[in-house]
Amino acid sequence: MKLDKNITTVVLAAGKGERMLSDIPKVLHEICGKPMLGILLDTVKILRFPAPYVVIGCGGNEVKKAFAGYDARWVWQKEQLGTAHAMLMVAPYLKKLPEKLLVLYGDVPLIRPESIDALIRAHSASKAVLTVLTACVFSPSGYGRIISGKDGSLLDIVEDKNASAEQKRINEINTGIYVMNFKACLPLIKEIRKDKLKKEYYLTDLVKLLLQRGLPVKRHFADYTHEFMGINTQAELAGAVRLLLNRKLDELYRSGVRIIDPNTAYIEPGVEIGRGTVIYPFVVIHNGVKIGRNCSVGPFTQLRGNTVLKDRAEIGNFTEVKSSVIGSHTKAKHLSYLGDAVIGRDVNIGAGTITANYDGVGKFKTIIDDGAFIGSNSVLVAPVKIGKNARTGATSVVTRNKNIPPGVTVAGVPARRLKD
Ligand code: UD1
Ligand code: CA
Repeated sequence: MKLDKNITTVVLAAGKGERMLSDIPKVLHEICGKPMLGILLDTVKILRFPAPYVVIGCGGNEVKKAFAGYDARWVWQKEQLGTAHAMLMVAPYLKKLPEKLLVLYGDVPLIRPESIDALIRAHSASKAVLTVLTACVFSPSGYGRIISGKDGSLLDIVEDKNASAEQKRINEINTGIYVMNFKACLPLIKEIRKDKLKKEYYLTDLVKLLLQRGLPVKRHFADYTHEFMGINTQAELAGAVRLLLNRKLDELYRSGVRIIDPNTAYIEPGVEIGRGTVIYPFVVIHNGVKIGRNCSVGPFTQLRGNTVLKDRAEIGNFTEVKSSVIGSHTKAKHLSYLGDAVIGRDVNIGAGTITANYDGVGKFKTIIDDGAFIGSNSVLVAPVKIGKNARTGATSVVTRNKNIPPGVTVAGVPARRLKD
């Protein structure tokens, strides 16, 4: 997609997130290893829109710190008086009031770039000053309901708390995503009154006010997929994780990866897996891991960031790998920890092998060359290098810097060279 300089993006992320019952600001809660707000900011980046204005308030300093490396413009809302009030905070930062302003809610992070693109296209094709993205859902409880006239036109949005029993039965909801002509809308956002029940200024009241002035308002109706879900509770957060995992599994099936049990395969979105690889039950694979072709992972395996498995590598039962490269056709099938290790090809890592990479202060590397054979229960204290085709006997402790030359066998505690 090419950069659309005409779009100004605002993300509302100042709310308290009280329903999460958590000390962490809501938008910092992670979904598959990435904070909610990060997912949204990445989406804006994919769309190549200019840096968004992000309205922060509750836990704002923490939020700013967490996204220090991101291209965002921070706008403070000191008191969280509602979504309309949050929009008013943005206006002073804008040199010129934009005619195309995209509003995203920080707690609706799963929207796909394609859906935002479709909304903007629909808005641009109409004369509306506000286009609301709506969807029909199976259980609309908690969302603002879309009130339509007899001709099907959009009349109003009524918040769940304010809805009558009859209105609560409506299952078309406000996703909280809009495109608006801010120049035309701002004067009316200023006129929004505080809701008597919730004591907040609702941005959703803008619909009614615009219509009263005869200004055109449209809805863009999207087929509901869970991408529009708002995350207000721990249960919804867990639902969002499930959704991203399913999206990832679909992608993997389509690239020829065999997942034996999708229910116990936790594979984050930023993982790459080559065709022909088999994922056994109960695996956790984090963002940043790259797995080659025809590998075997699991059951009961954890692969953490920056790990690379080359083609035909096999990592099995109760093995954790972190920031390591595992060479082609190398096997670590049982009960091992491999951290900060660079392991060549055709290496056998015996059951119970540990790379002791941490001395309480720093992290150190273990290098294991091609063809080495590491005996069961070996401890390799880093930094250390095991040469090509070298061997360690069962229960060896190879101490730091005691590099093992190629072809040599060592055993014992501390490990010593065996007589030939
Ligand atoms: C909101 C919508 C509702 C919609 C739903 C979609 C309003 C009034 N209601 O309800 O129609 O169906 O989202 O998920 O907009 N925020 C601020 N400052 C504030 C208040 C909120 O920045 O003063 C931010 C929050 O951090 C959050 C977003 O705005 O990211 C939405 O606020 P929230 O209180 O969660 O609104 P909902 O009740 O979910
Ligand atoms: Ca919400």
